[in-house]
Amino acid sequence: MKGILICGGSGTRLKPLTDTTHKSLLKVGGKPLIHYPLKVLLDAGITDIMLITGPTFAGDFMQFLGSGAKFGCDFTYRIQDEPKGIAHALALAESFADEEPVCAMLGDNIFANNLSEDIKAFEGNGGHLFLKEVDDPERFGVAETAIRDPRSAISEVISLEEKPETPKSNLAVTGCYLFAGDCFEIIKTLNPSDRGELEITDVSKAYLDRNELTATVIEKDWIDAGTFEALERAEEIVKNI
Ligand code: G1P
Repeated sequence: MKGILICGGSGTRLKPLTDTTHKSLLKVGGKPLIHYPLKVLLDAGITDIMLITGPTFAGDFMQFLGSGAKFGCDFTYRIQDEPKGIAHALALAESFADEEPVCAMLGDNIFANNLSEDIKAFEGNGGHLFLKEVDDPERFGVAETAIRDPRSAISEVISLEEKPETPKSNLAVTGCYLFAGDCFEIIKTLNPSDRGELEITDVSKAYLDRNELTATVIEKDWIDAGTFEALERAEEIVKNI
């Protein structure tokens, strides 16, 4: 399995901090934020990792991460020339993935749970999401689930919507996506959303349409550190990791 770190966006909600560097390099718990999603990949034994970001701060990532030797992994870098969405960024990893399944992590997501078991258990078919109960689901991708087997923590996803006005559940889709190697073929069929981006939720939806989308509901804290308030909460969360 290949690891992909997606560090897109312009960090508008974190200005002026993001005038001088990327939001995924802002300090959380004394470390650049990217350390946390990177650790999810490393804990799962994934060492072949591509980082995808825009041209502005790509050098800052390289300066911090280097070749990967100091983390025991191997980094490849790719530039997303324009911020055309998470799925658009993921598409840039097609030849790197070389038909293997991928674990795509958003560079601003922090998980208190250890996701390693589920990542290692992914057999490389369809898609698998990690969901978290939140108070403000309308800010995220939202999934409805059905229990597949009461003995297993894995649920079937039965509906999925990107930032719905009236969410069908309070389960937010977090920024860790396990996809089969055919996700790149799916991305080629996508059209831009109303915000002009290729949406990662549409990739998951394609697997849902084929009844190939499962999910784990995570119990511990999760945060998408894209706002000042979220950055402050992130500081609290990492104290307990
Ligand atoms: C993206 C996804 C959304 C997901 C979120 C998690 O949102 O589109 O489905 O719930 O990441 O961090 P964005 O950060 O693009 O608003």
